[in-house]
Amino acid sequence: MKRVLVSGILLAFCCAPCSLGEATTAGDTDKGPAEMTLQTTLDPEKPPKPAVFPHGAHQARLGCKTCHHGKTAEGKRLSYVAGQKIEKCETCHNSKAGMPEKWGTFKNAAHVLCQNCHRKNRPELTECKVCHKK
Ligand code: HEC
Ligand code: HEC
Ligand code: HEC
Ligand code: HEC
Repeated sequence: MKRVLVSGILLAFCCAPCSLGEATTAGDTDKGPAEMTLQTTLDPEKPPKPAVFPHGAHQARLGCKTCHHGKTAEGKRLSYVAGQKIEKCETCHNSKAGMPEKWGTFKNAAHVLCQNCHRKNRPELTECKVCHKK
């Protein structure tokens, strides 16, 4: 099931030019910044490794729900629907929140989300310097 979902997402990405209507859903009024620098604040490692993230370029091809989601009262993943409150990843993905370690920090959650997709699309995009400029 999960595999099917993931390849569906990838397919949507690869076919981006022919499915532009998919990317933005009516109701997503706040799209956030087009260029971001992401940095862990709750579970920092040394030396820090800020990550560049061209949010706008990803939004142009991917639906918000590819990356954004919420949490149900039972602590399960809640799929994103247009207009849902978007919180920082760290709010839920931090070492105090009791998540499994593989996505229990901002670093781990981000590496799973970002790197899995990059690996499948263009493996050279998994090199550290793609996101961590120094
Ligand atoms: C696709 C983008 C991407 C790539 C490629 C990537 N990372 Fe990251 N990494 C992130 C993001 C996003 C974060 C979370 C925000 C932050 O603190 O930088 C992060 C966090 C980290 C952190 C914690 C930073 C801190 O300040 O505590 C380390 C260490 C790290 N990455 C190491 C690596 C290494 C080593 C590689 C190469 C093997 C790598 N990353 C490749 C996106 C990436
Ligand atoms: C490829 C992944 C990805 C996609 C697609 C994406 N975003 Fe984001 N977005 C992020 C990440 C990562 C952040 C930074 C979160 C953080 O700082 O912890 C972010 C931040 C935001 C923020 C700012 C939140 C804050 O409090 O700083 C808003 C608003 C937002 N996104 C809206 C959207 C909307 C609306 C869409 C769809 C049109 C979208 N995003 C698509 C990954 C994505
Ligand atoms: C409101 C809380 C919340 C926020 C904010 C949040 N997540 Fe999650 N996330 C969850 C929950 C709950 C799960 C399911 C955890 C589990 O099953 O172990 C999850 C699962 C995941 C997973 C595991 C694979 C999957 O999709 O189930 C990844 C990777 C992930 N989140 C990355 C992110 C990133 C990156 C951000 C920021 C763009 C983010 N999350 C924002 C609550 C949140
Ligand atoms: C669902 C797929 C997907 C996800 C999730 C994703 N990316 Fe990407 N990203 C791509 C693809 C594909 C490209 C290449 C776009 C192109 O060639 O125009 C890219 C390009 C980039 C680039 C620019 C590389 C360059 O210099 O050309 C950066 C930086 C980047 N992503 C960071 C991130 C970070 C950080 C995250 C997680 C917060 C993330 N990406 C999540 C698919 C994804």
